Amino acid sequence: MSAATAHVLQAEDLTRDYAVRRGPFRAPATVHALAGVSFTLAAGRTLAVVGESGCGKSTLARLLTMVEPPSGGRLLVDGIDVADATLRDAAQRRQLRRAVQIVFQNPYGSLNPRQTVGAALMEPLLVNGERDAGKREDAARAMLRRVGLRDEHFTRYPHMFSGGQRQRIAIARALMLQPRVLVLDEPVSALDVSIRAQVLNLLVELQQAFGVAYVFISHDLGVVRHVADEVAVMYLGRIVEQGTRDALFGDPQHPYTQALLSATPTVDAAARRQRILLRGELPSPLAPPSGCAFHTRCPIAIERCRGELPLLAPALSDPALRVACLLRQR
Ligand SMILES: Nc1ncnc2c1ncn2[C@@H]1O[C@H](COP(=O)(O)OP(=O)(O)OP(=O)(O)O)[C@@H](O)[C@H]1O
Ligand SMILES: [Mg+2]
Repeated sequence: MSAATAHVLQAEDLTRDYAVRRGPFRAPATVHALAGVSFTLAAGRTLAVVGESGCGKSTLARLLTMVEPPSGGRLLVDGIDVADATLRDAAQRRQLRRAVQIVFQNPYGSLNPRQTVGAALMEPLLVNGERDAGKREDAARAMLRRVGLRDEHFTRYPHMFSGGQRQRIAIARALMLQPRVLVLDEPVSALDVSIRAQVLNLLVELQQAFGVAYVFISHDLGVVRHVADEVAVMYLGRIVEQGTRDALFGDPQHPYTQALLSATPTVDAAARRQRILLRGELPSPLAPPSGCAFHTRCPIAIERCRGELPLLAPALSDPALRVACLLRQR
């Protein structure tokens, strides 16, 4: 793959629509699950993607891992346009798929209950053509130790582990083929709070050891605080604010980010001085509000916000932050 590009992932205006039936006699409607998402991710860095349920996080994960094609826009992995690669040849497509791996919230879903941990870790190597059984086993045992498990765990089955250990196994399996990017979709949301920090620390260690980049998806800003280099906040299929971790947590500009942060107990008191309560419910993605989709719940919305769709632009307060708010951008 091209070494010239520093970006392991480049998303350009990615969209994803789904047709949904609302009943036998009604015309199908379209959900714009992703309505135009752009970002770049450098090798070995972490982009956190945060937002409420239904804002499009897992849809983004499916596009990034090439499980589904985008409805529009472009995705580049290591500088290679995924759509081009699909057309050109199967070998390159395999190589791109290998480069981006995923870890889900519930590792039970991705681990086969009838497969030992050792077999689960060796399988990707086998599928990828490693014929030497000894090498497969050595690599799998080494990875098992890397994620904090022990040699005797090699022959055990997934149900014999705790939730945190199972998530370590899922992470180990995702790393077996030395991916450039790991997409982590709510990787610690199902874990006890006491276990969360351990798994987050492990992810930080593994990133340093392997130079792998993360797209870290979470509904909880508090969780991403210590692992993210950059944070993107999503609302109804769009990024509404994006910036470095320090800029975004230090002085968030979008009223939605401010509300999310004010409701995050793990963030220090200063940052959530005033608790901002959002009005109303999250609108249906089948009928998003006109203009700025957040205007129906926004504490500072003005008339203009109903009619005009704000795009991401440098914030008035700090050009290192980009914000999709007519009142807070340059
Ligand atoms: N296959 C599908 N068919 C129809 N609608 C879908 C499909 N997948 C997702 N959606 C819709 O797209 C929107 C985004 O869903 P998505 O799963 O990406 O959200 P999410 O941010 O991951 O939510 P959560 O935090 O609950 O996991 C939702 O309105 C969802 O109902
Ligand atoms: Mg999801």
